[in-house]
Amino acid sequence: MNPSHPRTTPTSRPLGAERVRRLPGGGLVGLLKAAGGDVVNLAAGTPGWPATPPELIKHAVHALHEGVNQYENPDGNALLREWIACSLPGRPDPATELTVTAGASEALAVALLAAVDPGDEVILLEPFYENFLSAVALAGGVPRFVPAQGPDWAPDPAALTAAFGPRTRAIVLNSPANPTGRLLTDEELDLIAEQCATWDVVAVSDEVYAPYVYDGARHRSAAEVPGLAERSIVLGSFSKSHSVSGWRLGYLRAAEPWTRLLRQVHIATTGGAAAPLQHAMAHAGPALHDGWDPAESMRTMRDHAVRALTEAGFSCSAPRGGIYVMAGIAGLTDEPSPRFARELAERTGVLVAPATPFFADPRHGDPYVRVAFNRPEATLLEAHRRLTGRP
Ligand SMILES: Cc1ncc(COP(=O)(O)O)c(C=O)c1O
Repeated sequence: MNPSHPRTTPTSRPLGAERVRRLPGGGLVGLLKAAGGDVVNLAAGTPGWPATPPELIKHAVHALHEGVNQYENPDGNALLREWIACSLPGRPDPATELTVTAGASEALAVALLAAVDPGDEVILLEPFYENFLSAVALAGGVPRFVPAQGPDWAPDPAALTAAFGPRTRAIVLNSPANPTGRLLTDEELDLIAEQCATWDVVAVSDEVYAPYVYDGARHRSAAEVPGLAERSIVLGSFSKSHSVSGWRLGYLRAAEPWTRLLRQVHIATTGGAAAPLQHAMAHAGPALHDGWDPAESMRTMRDHAVRALTEAGFSCSAPRGGIYVMAGIAGLTDEPSPRFARELAERTGVLVAPATPFFADPRHGDPYVRVAFNRPEATLLEAHRRLTGRP
């Protein structure tokens, strides 16, 4: 035993690192674990619709049998990067501007770890996807929130401008948004571009719901915005677009200098996404796209969800993108949304997500619930029947 290091057991030290203690409580995860039995689960975004394309499954099985079982280039399967590049506006260079990740979740963590030093401020627009807060916490960043009010959830331009300052290192964007389905307007993107240039800030733009935009609206990527393109890190995912959330396939798009940094962190963390699944997506994915328009059927599902909720007394309007409706419950209850959601599940067998995890102050989410509509039509019609008591 080293006499300078007597064997004592430190009793006062808390378990684990500070960055772990700063992670949010996982409000949704707890609720989803509690769900069971005869429940119509509209709480999680796990895809029930569209169905996973059988061609993808066939190619994945084939890839395993054909021996695609070892490490892939950590940057990602070259063919897959080619195809992703072709699908994106401005066609990034797949060799130097695209990296395949283990879902957008890895991409998010990698982006913030690569961009943010402990103590740097990161701007989040409320309401936000809960994992944004987790990724900021892991990177040691300090979240700076820009509030917004329902039902429109538009950030106030003055508050948005005021959120930027010398300590800001990044802003996280999400359009179409989880949980509101809102699209950032051209004016908002231009303002963000201007502020990012003024304060030398990077925009981490989560665009996983880009394939789901409705009613003639157009998704505008941060990579298309003058002044933002070269300082943006765009995140994409196949989880929802191709209903393969368990495959864990996403990507990072960024200008070459950023991509070099992102790949260093990517290698240090996952070292790459699953080789056979990348292979399957690269070989079967492009062919699916002849006549593949998941947004068209998803709009029908959105309309079913909005009708069911409206007839049941929730207040909501049809979101222009994404896969969720943020529905007001003030006309139905005085209870906070977690309690309301639990009682609704017991009374009707329909599970929705309380909106409390999407706000810095959870109380701001009390008047809302989030409802996922990426479900088969029959599921949404059953939810309608249970919520309204009518067929
Ligand atoms: C906004 C947003 N980003 C990222 C993710 C995670 O995507 P992935 O399954 O590709 O990790 C989700 C999943 O719900 C999401 O809503």
